[in-house]
Amino acid sequence: MTNGITMTNAVIECILSRSTTKKYDPAVTLSDDQIRELVRIGTTAPTSFHMQNWRFIAVRTPEAKARLSPIAWNQPPITDAAVTFIVCGQLADSSVIPERLAPLVEAGVMPAAMVPDWEIPARGLYMEYPQRQRDEAVRSGAIAATAMIYAARSLALGSTPMIGFDAEAVAREFGLAEDEVPVMLLSVGAERPGNWPQKPRRPVADVLDLV
Ligand SMILES: Cc1cc2nc3c(=O)[nH]c(=O)nc-3n(C[C@H](O)[C@H](O)[C@H](O)COP(=O)(O)O)c2cc1C
Repeated sequence: MTNGITMTNAVIECILSRSTTKKYDPAVTLSDDQIRELVRIGTTAPTSFHMQNWRFIAVRTPEAKARLSPIAWNQPPITDAAVTFIVCGQLADSSVIPERLAPLVEAGVMPAAMVPDWEIPARGLYMEYPQRQRDEAVRSGAIAATAMIYAARSLALGSTPMIGFDAEAVAREFGLAEDEVPVMLLSVGAERPGNWPQKPRRPVADVLDLV
C-alpha cells in the first residue's frame, strides 16, 4: 500500500482467503457449544440503534436437515455441513429499544437519560415505513451472517451463504414469527477437497468512487 500503510495481518488474510464452500465433510460435526460461540460472535456485529433485531435457528440434526433440505433446493451443504443457520432478521421496531439499551445503562456505558434520544428518532425512521423496517431486518441479518462467515474462516471452517430456498416454506416449517424475515441460510462446517478456487473480482476502479 501507499503512505507507508501495509495492509496485511491475520484478519485481512482471513478475509482475503475466504471463498464459498460447496463440498463439506459430512463426518465433521460441531458441538452445540461451538454453534453457540459462532452465534455469540455473530451478535457482536453492529445493528441500527443497537436493536439486535435477529434470531438464528441452528439446523444441525439429521431430522432437522431433512426438513430444511427439500424447501432449500436440496442444496448439498444443508445435508453435509455440520450446521445450517436460518439467519432471521426482525422487522425494525423502535419499541424494543429501551429494553435493548437497558444492559448498556446498567453497565454504565450509556446514561439512562440518553435512551429517548435513540428511541424517538428510531420511531420516526421506522414506525410508518414498512420498507425501512424490512430493509433493517435484512441489513442486520446480513451483517451478523458476515461476521459468522469470517469467524468460521478463522477457525478453518468453510461457509455457504444461501438465498436458494423457499422463504415462505422455511418460515412455516421452522416457526418464524410474523415479524421475522429469513434473510439467508448459512451453512458452516469442515471442507472436503474439491471446492473451487477463489473467483476473481471486478476491478476496484469499477466499484469505487473517490469523491
Ligand atoms: C446472499 C447470497 C446468497 C447466495 N446464495 C447461494 C445459494 O443459494 N447457493 C449457492 O451455492 N451459493 C450461494 N451464494 C454464494 C455465491 O454464489 C458466492 O458468494 C459468489 O459466487 C462469490 O463466490 P465466493 O463466495 O466463493 O467468493 C450466495 C451468496 C450470497 C452472498
